[in-house]
Amino acid sequence: MTETILITCATDGIGLETAKRLAADGHKVILQGRSQAKLDAALGAVPGSTGVLADFSKLDDVRAMADAVEGPIDVLINNAGVLKAPTTITESGLDIRLVVNTLAPAALTEALLPKLAPNARVLNLSSAAQAKVDIAAMGDGRTMADMEAYAQSKLAITMWSEEMAARHPGLVFIAINPGSLLATNMVREGFGIAGSDISVGATS
Ligand SMILES: NC(=O)c1ccc[n+]([C@@H]2O[C@H](COP(=O)([O-])OP(=O)(O)OC[C@H]3O[C@@H](n4cnc5c(N)ncnc54)[C@H](OP(=O)(O)O)[C@@H]3O)[C@@H](O)[C@H]2O)c1
Repeated sequence: MTETILITCATDGIGLETAKRLAADGHKVILQGRSQAKLDAALGAVPGSTGVLADFSKLDDVRAMADAVEGPIDVLINNAGVLKAPTTITESGLDIRLVVNTLAPAALTEALLPKLAPNARVLNLSSAAQAKVDIAAMGDGRTMADMEAYAQSKLAITMWSEEMAARHPGLVFIAINPGSLLATNMVREGFGIAGSDISVGATS
């Protein structure tokens, strides 16, 4: 059965690899990117896909994206994730990991609820790296260690997934750890290592 699948941050890494596989399986894939150039490159690599632009460090962008996307959506893959960034505090004074990794997927999903198919699945990319959330530290403009902020944002999206599953019993919400130290920009830039194969079906 052909399904409509929206993947966030699908211009690189796990998101792009997943998009290629799902399109090859015959699904209608919608890619979100933050730069037109990388989105165009991803659209070229994923046959039949369509794209939408949004910077996930800006929640207004995310809400505008939700308005622009056409439903019904069968599967939403909240793949958005950042570990290191040139500027770690957003224009709204929040840690960028909290915004991109947790608040943006939550805002997007809430805004898309009316456009989700009745039995839609929402897959949220979490991580094995998880730490107790210090919401004050994430929200008061202080600079946090990259891994600490990342780990907190990932426990936060896992907790949010459980809450959404309880609130919306007709829908499926799952928090996923895709593997660890997979070969993506995040791992290359964050850990200075090549990482392990991310091609779908590879074991890590
Ligand atoms: N790699 C691993 O081993 C691993 C392990 C556990 C969990 N994860 C999770 O898996 C997900 C995918 O990670 P990945 O390793 O594939 O990362 P990646 O290769 O670094 O790709 C990250 C994607 O996020 C986009 N992005 C970054 N900041 C953004 C922003 N402000 N607005 C919109 N898009 C933005 C990037 O866009 P550009 O292409 O424009 O840069 C890129 O498409 C993340 O949630 C990550 O936390 C990864």
